[in-house]
Amino acid sequence: TTPIILDCDPGHDDVFAIWLAAAHPAIDLRAITTVGGNGLLEHTTYNARVACTVAGVSGIPIGAGAAHPLAGPLHPADWIHGPNALGGPELPAPTVPLDDRNAQQLMRDVIDASPEPITIVATGPLTNVAMLFEETPETVSRIAGVVWMGGSTTRGNVTPYAEFNAWADPEAIAIVLAAEVPFTMVGLNITHQALATPEVRARIAATGTRTGAFGRELLDYFSSTYERAERMPDGPLHDPITVALLADPAVATTVRTRLDVELAGTETRGATSVDLLDALDRPHNATVALDLDVPRFWSLIEDAVRTLA
Ligand code: BDR
Ligand code: CA
Repeated sequence: TTPIILDCDPGHDDVFAIWLAAAHPAIDLRAITTVGGNGLLEHTTYNARVACTVAGVSGIPIGAGAAHPLAGPLHPADWIHGPNALGGPELPAPTVPLDDRNAQQLMRDVIDASPEPITIVATGPLTNVAMLFEETPETVSRIAGVVWMGGSTTRGNVTPYAEFNAWADPEAIAIVLAAEVPFTMVGLNITHQALATPEVRARIAATGTRTGAFGRELLDYFSSTYERAERMPDGPLHDPITVALLADPAVATTVRTRLDVELAGTETRGATSVDLLDALDRPHNATVALDLDVPRFWSLIEDAVRTLA
């Protein structure tokens, strides 16, 4: 099994990443940390606790991290995720507690306590991970790597060329890349293959679990905002592809390549530059996910939802 820390900003699709990580036998979810992103930190933290409560996941410490990006204010994605970052279903009061430790301290404790190197899976802006590396640089050599949902090999979704998590905190990406940690990017180019069609939503509800019913409400809302704001009738379930890739590497193809991030473009701040043609002749520093085995991915999600409460 692969031990992971899941750093997230729930967020509809982040919730499914939590569920997949908690349910899949090949993943050992050691901690959840939260960051401001899709919503304010208080909302994303609350929502992480809701996600665990709904699915009957207990005993996983949850630590709150950065409220805003390294270099400026947070602009929550409320046009996609709603004012509480988890629009749609009524949210049950969380029964799982919030840990006293902040995200960085919790990550350090989990990394220190683990005989095997931990993989950090990040499904929001990379703020918490960048802060961890800056506060304790020795962490970098002690983890197995970072698998991040964000960026794109093609175009963006907040600006023409920037994806939301990258656009939210490009400086954090630059810090994490400069650390030369094994880094995997799961960008829009692959996540837009994971469309929560009406058939997919029906399958998730048909699991008959409380998690499935809640998940269906999440996906209905998420797809309705995607239709309105992004002109896509079915919401793409971005975040859990990170966990799926660790649990079942055959779910996607990947390539070793060069990844850089734009910090200062006049129109392109937060754009990821993925040199698939090796045109820049720079050393490869990232693994980038390309093609999704779509049926295999939805089977992983469906199995997770069926396993949970
Ligand atoms: C990313 O931004 C958020 O809206 C989603 O949770 C995902 O992490 C997609 O651009
Ligand atoms: Ca997210």
